[in-house]
Amino acid sequence: MPTSTPATALAAVLPSVRARLGSADADAFVARAEAGLPDAWEALSVLFGGVTDGPQLLAELLGRVLDAAVDRSPELRMLDHRREIRPDWFQDPSMVGYVAYVDRFASDLRGVEQRLDYLSELGVTYLHLMPLLRTRSGENDGGYAVVDYREVDARLGTIDDLEHLAGALRARRMSLCVDVVINHTAYEHEWAAKARAGDPVFRDYYRVFPDRTLPDQYEATMREVFPDFAPGSFSFDPDLQAWVWTTFNTFQWDLNHANPAVFGELLDVMLFLANRGVEVLRLDAVPFTWKRLGTDCENQPEAHLLLQAWRALVRIAAPAVAFKAEAIVPPDQLVPYLGAHDRFRPECDLAYHNQLMVLLWSSFATRDARLAAHALGRLRAVPPTTSWCTYLRCHDDIGWAVSDEDAAAVGWSGFAHRHFLADFYAGRFPGTFARGADFQANPATGDVRTSGTAASLCGIEAALLHDDPRALRLAERRLVLAHAALAAHGGVPLLYMGDELALRNDRSYLDDPAQRGDNRWMHRPPMDWDAAARRTDPAALEGRVFGWLRRILRVRAQQPALHAGAPVQVWWTGNDRVLALRRQHPRSGPFLALFSFAEQEERVPLDVLWSAGVRPDQLVLCSDDRPVEADGGLRLPALAFAWYAA
Ligand code: GLC
Ligand code: GLC
Repeated sequence: MPTSTPATALAAVLPSVRARLGSADADAFVARAEAGLPDAWEALSVLFGGVTDGPQLLAELLGRVLDAAVDRSPELRMLDHRREIRPDWFQDPSMVGYVAYVDRFASDLRGVEQRLDYLSELGVTYLHLMPLLRTRSGENDGGYAVVDYREVDARLGTIDDLEHLAGALRARRMSLCVDVVINHTAYEHEWAAKARAGDPVFRDYYRVFPDRTLPDQYEATMREVFPDFAPGSFSFDPDLQAWVWTTFNTFQWDLNHANPAVFGELLDVMLFLANRGVEVLRLDAVPFTWKRLGTDCENQPEAHLLLQAWRALVRIAAPAVAFKAEAIVPPDQLVPYLGAHDRFRPECDLAYHNQLMVLLWSSFATRDARLAAHALGRLRAVPPTTSWCTYLRCHDDIGWAVSDEDAAAVGWSGFAHRHFLADFYAGRFPGTFARGADFQANPATGDVRTSGTAASLCGIEAALLHDDPRALRLAERRLVLAHAALAAHGGVPLLYMGDELALRNDRSYLDDPAQRGDNRWMHRPPMDWDAAARRTDPAALEGRVFGWLRRILRVRAQQPALHAGAPVQVWWTGNDRVLALRRQHPRSGPFLALFSFAEQEERVPLDVLWSAGVRPDQLVLCSDDRPVEADGGLRLPALAFAWYAA
């Protein structure tokens, strides 16, 4: 007799598992369910134990998981098998991500399929296509306002095209990553329409309030995500004659995650996408899913439980699938999304390392590596079976997430430094090399974020404008150094479309009424295929940058120490302007990477290398001009990087 709720749930579906799956697949399903159901149950009973019959909910969800397992294609079952043998597939140093908008990259999904050689050339093994499910017309937050999770936006193709593309990617050992927007749906989603039509079942899918009493209480402790164009976190809906929770835009209605029906619906969506061949689910805006009065309504413990339960269940049907958290939150709140709680609880496999991004930009602006060394040095290690996604830019703004504590540790004021960074990168600070713009300046809190492409923020736009070859050289070196840092740090480096060609800010969004109000469009330029045609020309800017990125990624792929399971240590350099990262995997010797943020030559003692266990002649990659050994030290040229591996 089964003694636990998970065992009872499994026993109940067992005959059906045996009848509907072949014997090998049935055995595999049972083994996964035995492993995953206790995790799912632990989370579900806390989340919904008070509002529904828990055991019945678990049994019902397991039924949906079984349906998905039955529906999974033979190719994907083979992938599951491969991934269960090599669960660290996404931690391999050969992993390289590329992030692109379908329409801006290649018109539509079929177009993307025609461009895969380009991605292979760059070394890409993971393709994140920006939101591509059916969205509302007009303003739609770049597709993050989903109208139908089971249909592709008609402009981009069909669900069959998506499945076809996923297959073509798989054949090249590239993984497809797609967004699942779990915090909200579009106002036009069928659930929201039914709610407005008066159906109480669907009204309960959202967070609806008859008057301002509770919204006012919640807002007292919440931050505004879009203070400029969508102030407040609630919107009055005339049909409902009530206030609806809308963290982001008015047309993005927050789902009620305290309702188990919503949990089940989104589980179905995840399984549906997994069975179309999506291998990485990018779970959008995960910090915001659970609300609690008196808090900022971000990063609540239940937000983590939801992820744990979804992952445990999805992987019973589709163990090849990885979860990626989009949580752009302070460092202490970030690592738990990778499962680091009081004890390890499998949660997301991947998460964005927004600290590394901010610290690289901060180091370029100050020509100083102390803040980066301090903040990276005190970051909690991630569980060894998970991985960061490292990135320099993405489709969103940069929030200057420098904590007061970290700034104080190097003698700076956090508030003043965040302001300095916003001024510097908006192009206001005297002598700045950057050309960006403010995003969502909030006078009430003093918070200012920044928009701009990597190349424009690195100084390439200004250098070209002023026809200044020296400034251009330094700007290019910044862009290359930053990518060398992403690649050495550990995690999947994500290249944002166009950065490999140093594409500059695009101001054409100002002509489009649906985009004009949101300057994040300025750093989402359409792919410039003419510029791409110059990628092999070393005399062209594009050729130099593309060539460097390719080289960095190739060398990285051959370094076993750069497996994401190997911890990253900040290493002493004896020089405030030089950052060093040391890596060592149990299967490899030590690896040391040096990065100089200075614009003139710097010196580090040779002891830096010796103490890390590497020698100067073990150089595996460096910027154009090699570091030179002289009088017991190493001379590093301006904005140089150097990698050593024993
Ligand atoms: C995520 C997306 C961002 C979007 C928001 C709301 O943060 O990256 O672009 O505005 O979620 O969906
Ligand atoms: C994200 C982030 C926020 C970002 C926003 C949209 O969820 O938390 O910092 O600016 O969405 O760009």
